[in-house]
Amino acid sequence: MHQDFAPILDPKGDGVDIAVEALRSGKLVCIPTETVYGLAADATNDKAVASIFDAKERPAFNPLIIHVADESKAWDHAVSCEPARTLADKFWPGPLTLVLPRRKESNVSLLASAGLDTLALRVPAHPVAHRLLAAADFPIAAPSANRSGTISPTRVSHVAGNFADSIAGVVDGGPCQIGLESTVVGFDGDVPVLLRPGGIATEQLEAIVGVLLSADPDSKVVAPGMMKRHYAPNSTLRLDATDVRPGEVMLGFGQQMPPDAPRHSLNLSKTGDLDECAANFFAMLRELDDIGATGIAVMSIPETGLGKAVNDRLRRAVTPDQV
Ligand code: TXA
Ligand code: MG
Repeated sequence: MHQDFAPILDPKGDGVDIAVEALRSGKLVCIPTETVYGLAADATNDKAVASIFDAKERPAFNPLIIHVADESKAWDHAVSCEPARTLADKFWPGPLTLVLPRRKESNVSLLASAGLDTLALRVPAHPVAHRLLAAADFPIAAPSANRSGTISPTRVSHVAGNFADSIAGVVDGGPCQIGLESTVVGFDGDVPVLLRPGGIATEQLEAIVGVLLSADPDSKVVAPGMMKRHYAPNSTLRLDATDVRPGEVMLGFGQQMPPDAPRHSLNLSKTGDLDECAANFFAMLRELDDIGATGIAVMSIPETGLGKAVNDRLRRAVTPDQV
């Protein structure tokens, strides 16, 4: 039966139990995490995992992140190394994903890892995600709950109408506190490699494990999902804008927003706070995109802290479609 909106499941009531039962029976559920909402399935169920790829129209070569309740469960599925354990001890639960060699005995679907011999693992900090994972006796595969290549969802309203026919419900965890996907770190031997900047600032990771290698397209360790064009709104983005041109609205940052910025323009953080900027980023981009302006003039955002991850998403949103 067609439905326009999936049921909203309230975690204050029996929402978490309903979600776990649905996942156990092979259905998909949208779940909150502190980064973005995820489209979740039992990671050990091949058919359920396949339906994530279907619903998102996601290329099957792009592997999914596997979510577990705590660090010890992560090591049931992947082989750790010293810097991985150091990072996990310090940043889990939290917005960090570690890509590590998969254990032969792991029951995670091979489709979830797109046939790679590594697994991407994360222990989310959102209390509702944690309750869900603790109640489920299986790991949960969950990519961001948006169609492949579009803006990631950070509010229930961003997901409620999506996938209405493919999911059993959306667990309401409120607005996502971090607002950007997790930082993804892989390892070249024992050396950490930054695969995707995200919700934990690179500087914070480097303070603990030293300089991270960067993943270039030729390096041994890459994230197949880091396609050049991604996170794309419909409106054209103009980066590093200092003015607003006819037909544009402005996505500002800090106190220097031009006084003549048109109505509907938004400011990511009036005080120039990069954490606040990250938390608002996807939601404000969506809001401006929905106005249907010809273009969005985006002011420049400092390349430090979470600003790096925001700039990464902005650059990917303006890169022309790849063939
Ligand atoms: O914050 C997040 O990470 C959110 C929430 C829901 O947890 N999830 C998320 O998943 O952003 P997704 O599927 O949109 O992004 C996963 C990224 C992709 O770039 C993918 O290629 C990479 O992680 N990845 C997953 N498994 C990998 C692996 N085995 N090796 C390298 N990269 C991997
Ligand atoms: Mg995504």
